[in-house]
Amino acid sequence: MSVLFSPLRLRDLELRNRLAVSPMCQYSCVAGDGVPHDWHLVHLGARAVGGAGLVLAEATAVVPEGRISPWDTGIWTDEQAAAWARVARFVRAHGAAAGIQLAHAGRKASTRAPWLGRGRVAPEDGGWEPVAPSAVPFADGDEPPRALEVAELASVVSAFADAARRADAAGFDVVELHMAHGYLAHQFLSPLSNRRTDAYGGSRENRMRLPLELARAARAVWPERKPLLVRISATDWVEDGWTLDDTVAFARELRGAGVDLVDCSSGGSSPEQQIPDSPGFQVPFAAAVRREAGIATGAVGLIAEPLHAEEIVARGDADLVLLARELLRDPHWPLRAARELGAEGPWPKQYLRARPPSAPPRAEPTGPVELRRATLDDLDFFVELYNADDVEPFLGGRSVRGRDELRAEIERSQREPDAFGRLVIEAGGERAGALGYRSVSDRNRIAHLEALAVHPSHRGRRLADDAARAVQRYLILELGYHRLELAVYGFNRRAATHAERSGWVREGVKRKAYLRHGEWQDAIQFGLVAEDLEQ
Ligand SMILES: Cc1cc2nc3c(=O)[nH]c(=O)nc-3n(C[C@H](O)[C@H](O)[C@H](O)COP(=O)(O)O)c2cc1C
Repeated sequence: MSVLFSPLRLRDLELRNRLAVSPMCQYSCVAGDGVPHDWHLVHLGARAVGGAGLVLAEATAVVPEGRISPWDTGIWTDEQAAAWARVARFVRAHGAAAGIQLAHAGRKASTRAPWLGRGRVAPEDGGWEPVAPSAVPFADGDEPPRALEVAELASVVSAFADAARRADAAGFDVVELHMAHGYLAHQFLSPLSNRRTDAYGGSRENRMRLPLELARAARAVWPERKPLLVRISATDWVEDGWTLDDTVAFARELRGAGVDLVDCSSGGSSPEQQIPDSPGFQVPFAAAVRREAGIATGAVGLIAEPLHAEEIVARGDADLVLLARELLRDPHWPLRAARELGAEGPWPKQYLRARPPSAPPRAEPTGPVELRRATLDDLDFFVELYNADDVEPFLGGRSVRGRDELRAEIERSQREPDAFGRLVIEAGGERAGALGYRSVSDRNRIAHLEALAVHPSHRGRRLADDAARAVQRYLILELGYHRLELAVYGFNRRAATHAERSGWVREGVKRKAYLRHGEWQDAIQFGLVAEDLEQ
């Protein structure tokens, strides 16, 4: 059973699965009107049709001066709310919950759309003067924002409450308050941007004051039965900035304020930030907040593989997985992921004729994963495995996949077991996949791993990871190899994630390693010696 495709209950709302469309600004309103148009309907609607459990609309401004750009959506007028109602209705009609992110950009307001080169939009060109907790610009040399007077803060709070009320009237199931990415609420939280000396600045307690007022005000008007989410930046990634400890303390307060889930992102406060870019790099924040603050969390950021998403939920690191760019690349990612994880995908009835032949049920682990040397009895299995359309061998390509070549490989593996191997992966005594190795230096005892493939009916069980570990031990401990190597095609992200998870040490990138479809591809190089073997 896939946990990613199990329902998630938040208050009275049940999401059909744990996948959410992360909010994404589209900069696609008619300049200045803040009204969502056909683009927003089609963009968000497509992702509901694609199977996400929750579709969160982009950062939507609660006041005109809170927009990041003149092309942002807003929800400060009834006209805007009525246009949102059409979007929410469509999303809900297709089985997803409809959510909206309420936002105020603070000092990061009044900029151009990214494709127009960012930068400030001047008041004479339809821009405005940004406001912030303090007159501190985001980057040195930027025009400083205007510091908000204490007396103005109450109107910021009521703008968020009014927006939540309108979101309810528009039919949204979920509201997410944007307190991340260096926008207004985050500007109050972070000591980098908040230099106030009144009750809203200084100590952490004071810096949390306005964001908590926003959460309480939204909760007070947002229906009891509907969940309220908050997106935070778990760290500024800058020394002396906001930290994970601060986040945990803040998340505890948010829980007390009636927030149901904390969506854990990071960064956005300073151009000095040093952000890593490895898969799932923000997941540990979701795990820490969930564990230490006792609140449901969402994990986001460089999550691309279904199995990775599945593991995040299965390990208890997060309750919800949010995807942004991967869902721009493929709005039907959830349908594809469901198949890969052996779950029943939420296929719209209009698309049923395109549903792949009955998604193979994901086999539950039936026993330990073992390796054995292939015999000619396995030949049919090898032919099927390496020729199946949806089998992309993890390591090494498909160049030698004809029956005769596979037969020759199996024979060679039996003849020269020390130098060459074709091994069958068995799970609970059943053939589940295959992998191979060849000696690349007999004198130095170096072997190269290749052609690891898992049969589609056995996907999603970490079988490949177990097999990779088993072959590492077999080659080093039984055959006495000193060093193992492995190269992953640059384009095969799933294989790179798999390699990192199964204990391989990343050693670098080999430029132009393969010619594929007439184009040179880089390869990621991994290596391993006895000391690296997992105990
Ligand atoms: C086009 C685009 C627009 C975005 N706009 C928002 C936004 O409105 N609100 C927000 O919280 N994050 C926004 N983000 C950040 C994403 O929600 C997400 O946190 C980030 O892209 C990392 O996830 P990913 O690796 O799956 O893309 C945006 C990202 C992209 C690519």
